[in-house]
Amino acid sequence: MKIVITCKLPEELLKSIKEKFEVVMSEVENGPMPREQLLQEITDAEGLFTNVADKIDKELFEKAKQLKVISTMAVGYDNIDLEEARKRNILVGHTPGVLTEATADLTFALLMATGRRVVEAANVIKEDAWKSWGPFFLTGQEVYGKTIGIIGMGRIGLGVAKRAKGFSMEILYHNRSRNEEAENEVGAIYKEFEELLQQSDYVVLLAPSTPETYHMFSTEQFKMMKSTAVFINTSRGSNVDEKALYEALKAKEIWAAGLDVFEVEPISSEHPLLQLENVTALPHIGSAAIETRVAMARLAFKNLVNGLEGRALVHQVK
Ligand code: GLV
Ligand code: GLV
Repeated sequence: MKIVITCKLPEELLKSIKEKFEVVMSEVENGPMPREQLLQEITDAEGLFTNVADKIDKELFEKAKQLKVISTMAVGYDNIDLEEARKRNILVGHTPGVLTEATADLTFALLMATGRRVVEAANVIKEDAWKSWGPFFLTGQEVYGKTIGIIGMGRIGLGVAKRAKGFSMEILYHNRSRNEEAENEVGAIYKEFEELLQQSDYVVLLAPSTPETYHMFSTEQFKMMKSTAVFINTSRGSNVDEKALYEALKAKEIWAAGLDVFEVEPISSEHPLLQLENVTALPHIGSAAIETRVAMARLAFKNLVNGLEGRALVHQVK
């Protein structure tokens, strides 16, 4: 059987895979396999190892006549047309759990960096703009003891909440359903969406991308937030109306934003949000810790091999 791997992985992760399968892997360093090549290679492949940088859409499914299993090296699977997969009885696997703590770490790092203007401050030196100590030079928002509002209290949300507890933050959350574990373990308090927006100093978005969450943050939501509020998004760019965010930041309706994800990725330094000094932007690195990425790749391979050999996937997207 043939497997297509759309990203370039270290050989040591491929050893046992290559013993069992014919493998075609991207040769692009830290980038996706070119679309043309993917559409060509997928025609006779049984397995597809993918990630958030590929669009697994109807066009691809129509060419993928032999495809049995898609395994994404990610927790989010909004880049995969699940309906098309279901129609064709193609199994889809993903990698929750192994990236929870790394993504929670990065989310909290971005929260602190945005609140305390860490990246902007580091750039001041690089640009030779450090003239002296100043009483209000590069002053930001405190983190310790503030109120954090987490939208999307899943595994990663709970991970962020645990970190916030260590900073004596009051923890509010909003989620489709109540999360008793979060309420009991860290004393998180459930709030309606609007209430959370009004009361939080740090608003952290961790909801998955679904039709219901599309642009869940737009003009109205930013207007409800405190003018001192810091907005953090490490989920998916499509959850946020970027034009509305730009306007809110420019008009100082909210104080700053820390963003690891964008509506269309990658973005360049020309992006309107990058023109604002109260934006801290990262290139989608939520789970980018070495051990984590190795664990994600191993789990994604396990899903793929299990599916191709007729066993249950470890984490199947239903
Ligand atoms: C990355 O964004 C993921 O969904 O794992
Ligand atoms: C992902 O692991 C989540 O449920 O937040």
